[in-house]
Amino acid sequence: MASDLHTIETDIETFLDSYAKRDLLRFMTCGSVDDGKSTLIGRLLYESQQVFSDQLATLAKDSKAVGTRDGELDFALLVDGLAAEREQGITIDVAYRFFRTDRRKFIVADTPGHEQYTRNMVTGASTADLAILLVDARKGLLTQTRRHSYLVGLLGVRHVILAVNKMDLVAFDQTVFSTIAAEYRAFAAKVGVTDVTVIPVCAVDGDNVVQPSQRMDWYRGPTVLTFLETVDVTGTVTAQPLRLPVQYVSRPDADFRGFAGRIASGLLARGARVRMAPSGFETHIARIVTPEGDVESAREGRSVMVTLSDEVDVSRGDVIAAASAPVECAAQFEASVIWMHEEPLLQGRQYLVKIGTQLAAATIAPIKHKINVNTLEQLSAEKLELNEIGTCELVFDRPVPFDSYASNRALGGCILIDRLTNQTVGAALIHFALRRSQNIHWQALDVNRAVRGAQKGQTGCVLWLTGLSGSGKSTIANLVDKHLLALGKHSYVLDGDNVRHGLNKDLGFSAQDRVENIRRVAEVARLIADAGLITLVSFISPFRSERQMARTLVGAGEFFEVYVDTPLAVAEQRDVKGLYKKARAGQLQNFTGIDSPYEAPEQPEIHIDTTRLTPAEAALEIVACLTAAGMLAPESLKS
Ligand code: ADX
Repeated sequence: MASDLHTIETDIETFLDSYAKRDLLRFMTCGSVDDGKSTLIGRLLYESQQVFSDQLATLAKDSKAVGTRDGELDFALLVDGLAAEREQGITIDVAYRFFRTDRRKFIVADTPGHEQYTRNMVTGASTADLAILLVDARKGLLTQTRRHSYLVGLLGVRHVILAVNKMDLVAFDQTVFSTIAAEYRAFAAKVGVTDVTVIPVCAVDGDNVVQPSQRMDWYRGPTVLTFLETVDVTGTVTAQPLRLPVQYVSRPDADFRGFAGRIASGLLARGARVRMAPSGFETHIARIVTPEGDVESAREGRSVMVTLSDEVDVSRGDVIAAASAPVECAAQFEASVIWMHEEPLLQGRQYLVKIGTQLAAATIAPIKHKINVNTLEQLSAEKLELNEIGTCELVFDRPVPFDSYASNRALGGCILIDRLTNQTVGAALIHFALRRSQNIHWQALDVNRAVRGAQKGQTGCVLWLTGLSGSGKSTIANLVDKHLLALGKHSYVLDGDNVRHGLNKDLGFSAQDRVENIRRVAEVARLIADAGLITLVSFISPFRSERQMARTLVGAGEFFEVYVDTPLAVAEQRDVKGLYKKARAGQLQNFTGIDSPYEAPEQPEIHIDTTRLTPAEAALEIVACLTAAGMLAPESLKS
């Protein structure tokens, strides 16, 4: 191992030159807590002389203070940088580390093995060429090993090193090693991990990490570092066709129109014929502009700005692709979904989805099955809990350019985001497009919402009443309806209890059934509002997410959220239908407010405090709001 430190000091030019030429391997480590990941990486860093003298001094000090090695150097402490990690003895975030040898540069993502940290593991895997999985020789394969292998296979990491660690604790027994190796190879083959190298190691002493072990002369394979230095990972991305998702459009003056983005795959060359998605327009690359000036070509991973030979309408989220291998667009997919949040994925709920550089909305319905990662069995499921992986259908609100994840990670991988909290809640990997709605187009209808409303002297809209059972929603909706009738207006009431007798009679009160209940009624409400009617929806609609979905569907300005605010104690005391009593007695499950949540609106258009207003006063207030918003008059007819 040459000392880079020495070269940097004496000949910076030579160092920079050789540094730039070394190729790069991105790898990740994963395994269960205590398997010795940090120790292994610490060893690699130390032995490849990446530890600076001041760090060594700190390491020696820390090893005495908190180390687990009786004052000897504890390499895990080099890696477990975060204070919290040290205290808990677990690794809690993806830590990227950089080291280099004469033969290669390395970026290692140290991803945690603790159960709830799947998200970090997915983050690490999405860019890795290789994964080192650690197992404890005494324990062999664990659920965690299988889960990680499944994810590694799913996320397209092609090479795996299974490091069977702590061989010293099984007396360097070859049989123990061979049994684990055979068991692992059999499992890996089933999850699509084809290139497996199994290495017996003792990370704390360094056996087979960098130097071949003297204590396991029966092992003739490479050490961990030798394998990392020599594994061939070229040709994975560059061999793929050009994909350049457009991040933004630059138009500093009328003469220049540049499209900027990061090349997701393939080779971008000046003069190359390209095809845009979704427009399908074909043209040529005129210029490739980089901060260093124009270039003739650029490869994947490089951020560039291109100009095109023709005037083409391209916007953010579009993809510039090789004309010989264009990108398809679709709105429905089968995908693997990896769930990463404590709140389960609900079938039917709409999430924001980031695919390429686009942000779209998509519903997950239905979940075809989830996977038992130990047995690889497919189980039926209505929701996915934290860390669960399932095969689902994804229905986008519009067609998006895509590739299958297997052929292109950048255009086939999606991030799922909760639309209210903006948290990343899952990842989806596209298998293929479903063609179900391919031949269905929107028909333009001349008589639209505005025209129909005008005919009735009003503006079609939705008044969405939400609140606990027994809060007074139906009573108030009924009174508003009567007022509107008396004013000569045209309205209609959709009431939860009633709709559940017909359209939604197949649905119960589980979270996923409520999501579907609201999805259907929101669609119906939109149709009725389109027909020009003032539509009153009176459903508990306990989840913010679905109310937001309804708002988006109907359209801002014509959606009025009415919070019928009655404290639980008051609704329970009224108990008009006797349901609270039953729920308290345990005769009714999933009752809102008792053992099922109600998420109160944060910014309703209308807030009705029923402890202050009578139903008649509430109805008058709602009608006044409708009048003020101009709904009782026709929308000015737009041509
Ligand atoms: S929602 O939560 O899915 O919006 P919805 O408004 O359709 O509920 O139906 C609520 C009505 O169903 C209540 O007014 C009540 O009469 C009845 N009901 C029966 N079981 C339950 C339950 N477990 N939770 C809430 N309401 C229930």
